[in-house]
Amino acid sequence: MDARLQRRVQRYGWDRAVGHYEEHWLHRLWPATEQVLERAAIAPGERVLDVACGTGVLAVAAASRVGRSGMVVGTDISAKMVEAARATASALGLANCRFERSDAEQPLEFGIKFQVGLCGLGLMYMPDSERAIAALAEQLVPNGRAVVSVWGRRDRCGWADIFPIVDAHVESEVCPLFFRMGMGDSLRHGLDAAGLKDVATERLPITLRYESAGEACDAIFLGGPVALAYAHFDAASRAAVRADYLRSVEPFRRGEAYEIPGEIVIGYGVVPA
Ligand SMILES: C[S@@+](CC[C@H](N)C(=O)[O-])C[C@H]1O[C@@H](n2cnc3c(N)ncnc32)[C@H](O)[C@@H]1O
Repeated sequence: MDARLQRRVQRYGWDRAVGHYEEHWLHRLWPATEQVLERAAIAPGERVLDVACGTGVLAVAAASRVGRSGMVVGTDISAKMVEAARATASALGLANCRFERSDAEQPLEFGIKFQVGLCGLGLMYMPDSERAIAALAEQLVPNGRAVVSVWGRRDRCGWADIFPIVDAHVESEVCPLFFRMGMGDSLRHGLDAAGLKDVATERLPITLRYESAGEACDAIFLGGPVALAYAHFDAASRAAVRADYLRSVEPFRRGEAYEIPGEIVIGYGVVPA
């Protein structure tokens, strides 16, 4: 897929998903979010950059760790995600963080460098994930830490058929290279190629539990990367993709509920001094 088209699909797709993302995903992904924060070991007074920040879960957690003497900048390609993150920060009275709409692959010009760079579950959506890792590393001070996470191997993500199921109903692929960074040592290579040292990666198995078929479908179709395509489907196509998806996750049905396995890879690296 043309990279510009992919960015547009992401930008407007996540604009669609924003109202459903927190309800359906934040608590289910919390084990991975927590692990990113633990790895980042954010200290009071530090400056933190969170790219592909979404509704700001990492940025807001970082803001409470850096305190009033530190600062957090969150960026995302979706204007509505940025608005949602701003609203959360303002509702929490966080004066030490700000959010801007920006493509993570493009060089940023903040005029400051950061001690910590984060990217939680964003790199898979970008046409050039390696470039985004390098762009993040460039924003960090010497000895600055980068911590990123991506979905892992396709065969360890029980929901993975969602992409071919939706792609069969649209003319172009929604996320053509979604699992590329989760394969083998791809993430490690991306961090190495960005010039980082002390690079480490770890795989974290998680379980996405849904109490009903409706909840499992709403999470995937309303709150995630296929939300834009789904929004344009007519009622018959919606029913067809929901039925196909439920068939694909049938092995993970537990009575009325679903327990769908997933894998997340957390990557870490330090900017050489
Ligand atoms: C699954 S959400 C993750 C949000 C957040 N980091 C979290 O952990 O909840 C993925 C985010 O990546 C953003 N995104 C996709 N492509 C992007 C790009 N090229 N530059 C910046 N953000 C991008 C989307 O808009 C979306 O908000």
